[in-house]
Amino acid sequence: MLQINNLKKHFGGVKAVNDSSFVVREKTITALIGPNGAGKSTVFNLVSGVLKQDNGTIMLRDQDITNFSPEKVSNSGISRLFQHSTLFNNLTIEENLLLAFDNEDTKFFKNLLSSNKTPKIKKHKILEILELVAMEKFVSKLARDLSYGQKRLIELARTILNPHTFLMLDEPVAGVNPALRKIISEVLLKLKKQGETILLIEHDMNFTLNVADQVIVMDEGKVIACGKPKEIKNNKKVLKAYFGE
Ligand SMILES: Nc1ncnc2c1ncn2[C@@H]1O[C@H](COP(=O)(O)OP(=O)(O)OP(=O)(O)O)[C@@H](O)[C@H]1O
Ligand SMILES: [Mg+2]
Repeated sequence: MLQINNLKKHFGGVKAVNDSSFVVREKTITALIGPNGAGKSTVFNLVSGVLKQDNGTIMLRDQDITNFSPEKVSNSGISRLFQHSTLFNNLTIEENLLLAFDNEDTKFFKNLLSSNKTPKIKKHKILEILELVAMEKFVSKLARDLSYGQKRLIELARTILNPHTFLMLDEPVAGVNPALRKIISEVLLKLKKQGETILLIEHDMNFTLNVADQVIVMDEGKVIACGKPKEIKNNKKVLKAYFGE
């Protein structure tokens, strides 16, 4: 699905991403992990076109998306949850999710649906997605009345609602309580069952080991290990990066 080759991004002297390569296979959940500042979010910024790389290539299926703008990347089928994303506090959940349709390239929808039918179909889709994240009761609530974890679930719903073939989630459960964390892991596994491909960044090892098929470990801009969760758990380089000598 996604193939990254020799990706490089330096900020002055900071080698945020330094000659990193990895692949994400279709219909799997892949976790990108590593200590703070390892370069994980920078990889996401490069893939989603927010940053321009110094070197290397990014392929989405057969398409070279290396120098695409964020809009073009989104139109190519990548939907992303940001590490620090926000909802509009004074809008309802439904209104916030309606924006997901307007945010992306709506040409596809506009062509597909006659305009008077669109709202009903959108409403239906919104309810469907809220049921998936067990938040349907909150459809008419204002975003500001939700807890941090509940907001995160809605942001996840918004990311899923964006038409896509590939999901990139930057720390979907950071700061989220255990009960909502469980819901999120169930949602991710359900999505995988439906054939989705997901790349996620996560610090929580237990969460990662539970949901991921494949784990990529970064440290100081480099990929230092790659494998199944069980293999990664006891990898010496990984333990050293996380816990020191
Ligand atoms: N726009 C930027 N300008 C300058 N330096 C940056 C920029 N973005 C990231 N960096 C630096 O690049 C390095 C990698 O940052 P990045 O955010 O990719 O790490 P991360 O693995 O996502 O960390 P965390 O787990 O804390 O989110 C850090 O040293 C960071 O300070
Ligand atoms: Mg980050």
